[in-house]
Amino acid sequence: MKNRVCEILGCRFPIIQGGLAYVGNGRLAAAVSAGGGFGQVGSGGRSPEDLEAQIRIALAATDAGFGVNVPLSEHRDVSPYFEVIERMVRQHPGRIRAVSLSAGNPRPWIPVVRGWGLAVMTLASTPEQAQKAEAAGADIVICEGTEAGGHNGPAELTTFSLIPNVVDAVRIPVVAAGGIADGRTAAAAICLGAEGVQMGTRFVATEECQAHPNYKNLLVASRAQDTVVMERSFGRITRVLRSPFAEAVLRQEAETPGSEAHLLPMISGRMNARAALEGDVEGGWMNAGQSVGLVHDIVPAADVVRRVAAEAARILQQRSAQWQAWTDESIRSTDEGTHNPPSR
Ligand SMILES: Cc1cc2nc3c(=O)[nH]c(=O)nc-3n(C[C@H](O)[C@H](O)[C@H](O)COP(=O)(O)O)c2cc1C
Repeated sequence: MKNRVCEILGCRFPIIQGGLAYVGNGRLAAAVSAGGGFGQVGSGGRSPEDLEAQIRIALAATDAGFGVNVPLSEHRDVSPYFEVIERMVRQHPGRIRAVSLSAGNPRPWIPVVRGWGLAVMTLASTPEQAQKAEAAGADIVICEGTEAGGHNGPAELTTFSLIPNVVDAVRIPVVAAGGIADGRTAAAAICLGAEGVQMGTRFVATEECQAHPNYKNLLVASRAQDTVVMERSFGRITRVLRSPFAEAVLRQEAETPGSEAHLLPMISGRMNARAALEGDVEGGWMNAGQSVGLVHDIVPAADVVRRVAAEAARILQQRSAQWQAWTDESIRSTDEGTHNPPSR
């Protein structure tokens, strides 16, 4: 029995590394793909030239296929990014397998990317968005619950609620994202009907990720409750690590909600880069999801892929046997109508 996500992306495990603004580098994407997952070079926080450089690094580091993430509304002019991807696809046929489109309307770009022979993955945070993406020709829909690190949908559905609703609403394969960082959480997503998982926070704490060691160490030290949501006063949901800087942003948002003059300098990508790349974790903000509570070490990205794949397989088998043992007898007696206490 084939897994549709693996078939579409050409990977061994349906485990995807999400687009990671500023820190989704070519070396990380290559390491994830070489390990059997599906790595993606992130264009968020990069110039088109830097995106090209990172794609070239990934091409040189592995023979495996990988993807590119384009957070559409994060770029003032998105066309140069697609020009880079098209050029790389033509120069290195078969190596870039998919583009994931997030943070904006993917519809105009789906036929363009498919026209290059690539698969399209779109991000969705409600069943309706997933249906629209399917109707527009997306090959895979990645459903991201509000536990996830980075920008999330305004409906703030949790992964646990979102996935089964989307699975009921579309026919294309559903990939679950948000809150997944180990075999248990991946197995849970599979039980909800997802055919694959995408992780972001877990992949930041890997050896190949270009995030500053201070950021990675902070992820390891943080608990599940150590994230906060910024930018709510702008109508956006951005989940970041709790830090003195993030707390200052929240205080400022409470005082001057939605004020561009006060808040834009604080929530800018520059302040993300200061912490995430330069290591000033007190002087900037860092994306992270609630899955951070499950991040306990900094390891090679391929180890994350292997661990999650093996642990999920073991857990799915174990739990299914356990559940049957716990419930078989009760289900039989319920079916036979013998579960009711005798009437007096
Ligand atoms: C550091 C970081 C940066 C992110 N940047 C992007 C991005 O540029 N584009 C995007 O589509 N998603 C982005 N995300 C979301 C991830 O791709 C992924 O869907 C999410 O992290 C999944 O939830 P998790 O953090 O619980 O693993 C980012 C997440 C993190 C943690």
